[in-house]
Amino acid sequence: MTAESTVIPDFDLTTTYLGLTLRSPLVASSGPLTARVDSLRSLEQAGIAAVVLPSLFEEQVEYEDMEADRLSDFSTDSNPEASSYFPDMGEYESVADRYLRHLEEAKKALSIPVIASLNGVTPGGWVRYARLLERAGADALELNLYGIAADIDVTGREVEDDQVELVDLVKASLSIPLAVKIGPYYSALGHQAARIIEAGADGLVLFNRFYQPDIDPLTRKVAPALELSSAAELRLPLRWTAILSGRVEASLAVTTGVHTGADVARCLLAGADVAMMTSALLVNGPEHVTAVERELVAWAAESGFESVAQLRGSVSQRHVADPSAFERANYMAALIGFTSSFH
Ligand SMILES: Cc1cc2nc3c(=O)[nH]c(=O)nc-3n(C[C@H](O)[C@H](O)[C@H](O)COP(=O)(O)O)c2cc1C
Repeated sequence: MTAESTVIPDFDLTTTYLGLTLRSPLVASSGPLTARVDSLRSLEQAGIAAVVLPSLFEEQVEYEDMEADRLSDFSTDSNPEASSYFPDMGEYESVADRYLRHLEEAKKALSIPVIASLNGVTPGGWVRYARLLERAGADALELNLYGIAADIDVTGREVEDDQVELVDLVKASLSIPLAVKIGPYYSALGHQAARIIEAGADGLVLFNRFYQPDIDPLTRKVAPALELSSAAELRLPLRWTAILSGRVEASLAVTTGVHTGADVARCLLAGADVAMMTSALLVNGPEHVTAVERELVAWAAESGFESVAQLRGSVSQRHVADPSAFERANYMAALIGFTSSFH
């Protein structure tokens, strides 16, 4: 099955994301399937329109930089014979080098846009890495602001200012488009989203899915816990996409809980330019992209839409008859509806 054979001519799937023209709104988000060239190829064959590579993590890069400094200090201080005890740093491939190699290989193997990803919260070396990723051929960069504000002396405003500064610095160092992947936990998410865009983000990716550590009662240890998403988790990014659509000058991508063609339709109706998937592709394999596209096209045909452009945002907050449905009033309606179903 090739990407071309999945296109039904009467529905125009084309969309624009970060200024890139994509054949459809289906994008593979950062995850294990984008870490390997063979699965990237399978995704492209199944019709995916763009891919986001796994993130290069701030902690990995910082740790390696520290280790490299430590080893070079040690060998400089010791006698000349000592250098033979240490690995030849010339042959050593760092995490960042491996990442750049993967990016270059992905670019060679694919004809769809390849988006690189950086995951960090401090300005640190991000500007340097952002430039390296651009030079290695990335079509765009996704900056993942994945931070847990656990320091009780740090205010929300400080956290937000740091994020804005980071976006500003990274954007100033790039000529490719910049997407910023954020979490949903802000007191005034809309305002911070607007600030991030003002600082230079060409798009927002809504939302990071924070992995919550578990506690094992038997061992009394903190255990990392990673569960794939469920379709119900789509509602949170859906609400915020609907609220932000038409109010901010930036592309909008939904990530978290996109599993089916109907889910992609929901994202587009809310105002997203693209819908991203990881969990659904891990569970069902890269071929799932073809099935999702078919479902989307069948739904569009039944609903009388001719193009993604025509339907995008038609159920955003600005376009619905009852805008309060995306706000607090919806909460009351949901509670009343639920309670009355018991009578
Ligand atoms: C195993 C795994 C690895 C992931 N690695 C990354 C990563 O490196 N960078 C990133 O921004 N997101 C990463 N994600 C998050 C996904 O890109 C995505 O945002 C999240 O899984 C929610 O989407 P979904 O409901 O389609 O799974 C990862 C997710 C999974 C399940």
